[in-house]
Amino acid sequence: MKQVGIAGRAEALPPFIAMEVLERAQELERAGGHIVHLELGEPDFPTPSCVHEAVVKALAEGHTKYTHSLGIWELRKAIAAHYASRYGAQVSPEQVLVTAGTSPAMWLLFSAILESEDEVILTNPHYACYPNIIRFSGGQPTYVTVRERDGFQLDPEAVREKMGVRTKALLINSPANPTGAVLPEKCLKALADLGLLIISDEIYHGLTYQGGEHSILEYSDHAVVLNGFSKAYAMTGWRLGYAIVPRTLIRPLQKMHQNFFISASDFVQRAAIAALRGARAEVEKMRQIYDERRRFLVPALRRIGFTISREPQGAFYVLADATAFAADSYRFAFEILEQAKVAVTPGIDFGSGAEGHIRFSYANSLDNIREAVRRIEEYLGARREG
Ligand SMILES: Cc1ncc(COP(=O)(O)O)c(C=O)c1O
Repeated sequence: MKQVGIAGRAEALPPFIAMEVLERAQELERAGGHIVHLELGEPDFPTPSCVHEAVVKALAEGHTKYTHSLGIWELRKAIAAHYASRYGAQVSPEQVLVTAGTSPAMWLLFSAILESEDEVILTNPHYACYPNIIRFSGGQPTYVTVRERDGFQLDPEAVREKMGVRTKALLINSPANPTGAVLPEKCLKALADLGLLIISDEIYHGLTYQGGEHSILEYSDHAVVLNGFSKAYAMTGWRLGYAIVPRTLIRPLQKMHQNFFISASDFVQRAAIAALRGARAEVEKMRQIYDERRRFLVPALRRIGFTISREPQGAFYVLADATAFAADSYRFAFEILEQAKVAVTPGIDFGSGAEGHIRFSYANSLDNIREAVRRIEEYLGARREG
């Protein structure tokens, strides 16, 4: 048989390790094992009931067609209205592109703006896929280290020092995956004052436990917002996200979306309108439950020997220093999976700045989180003695 030649960019693409952990955990489950899942950023809650009702209605009404490539107008209007009412940001529905998740929006955006060797500044640690998507699109990630002792806060002066002739944009994520850091208003304003194009991934908005929540669009119109329904609305499997972009960017993105994806799903877009208009109370309830879990998990991990200098303030992750147990987070995470039967994500998935750490997701029930801590504690005890 002839070999298929694989393109260099596909060969060079690293795996998304959190998914690799999940897939190994599923293998163990198929073999009869019982695993507690704390590896994924996937809410355990059902999708809000108003969203379910809206999708059933949309299907009954036959909304099963292609839509406008930028998304149905009613949803684009609802997204613009959401940013106006929540943040006072004035954006037109014409600036909104609706996609099948935030991930495709991210890929389209970087492909649309990056020329070969253009640089994007981002934090280290960072969401695992950012540098992979930037490189795949032809660009170069360049990092500003954020430190645990500073609560993983991004320093605008450190960004300024990184800026150079090839800098195309700054990518921020607040609340952040994997650190749970939330950038305060003062920081967002100072970042906006740098004059760079800011790409702000706001997918964890709605999941903040301390302090207010601000969109970059409150401080700059030289900005792109990436957002989606996966996290706050517990809609990971529905695959819906969007980008809000400066007007000059919408046409290139539209042409790319037409060619590569045609449109996002018709009935899912209709359900998303219901999410924006009617799910507020359910989202708030989920937020409060995540907060309870956070307040259990942080001290529980500290008690069993992990170090957490600052409590995470948003999203649903704890990035815990595990160097008391192991320096190699990849090996340690798989060891915990195989031996303690708890799936967790190694810090190295999120860059060298998170090596020696383990990311615990608390998007799982308090009972399951308690059981996970019990299993890990037991395993670490046996490991110490063995
Ligand atoms: C920071 C961040 N951005 C984007 C995504 C992808 O979201 P979506 O499900 O909308 O593609 C994730 C998923 O974990 C994430 O953590």
